[in-house]
Amino acid sequence: MIFVGSDGPEYTVDATVGDSVMTAAVKNGVPGIVAECGGNQSCATCHVWVREEFASLVGPPGEMEEDLLDLAVAERRDTSRLSCQIRVTQELAGLTVEIPPEQP
Ligand code: FES
Repeated sequence: MIFVGSDGPEYTVDATVGDSVMTAAVKNGVPGIVAECGGNQSCATCHVWVREEFASLVGPPGEMEEDLLDLAVAERRDTSRLSCQIRVTQELAGLTVEIPPEQP
């Protein structure tokens, strides 16, 4: 999958099916996915913008995730998701997400 940094660099990583997108980022040292709470859905520092073409495959956020996204530092978009809540599946091969600039 591909993470697109706010200042341009793209990070292509091998993600393991069953892991979360956040875990794939952290394992591969992708900057900007802070994941302070370690995937417990309580920090919103793993916020990403899912690229439009993958939005329907990834699906919408859950109720609790919705609330957290409202508290995220970065701009909330239609395709905002917490990357710790997106499970990597075979169907998501090539998934591309953008990292908001406010998550240094
Ligand atoms: S890692 Fe904290 S909400 Fe995703």
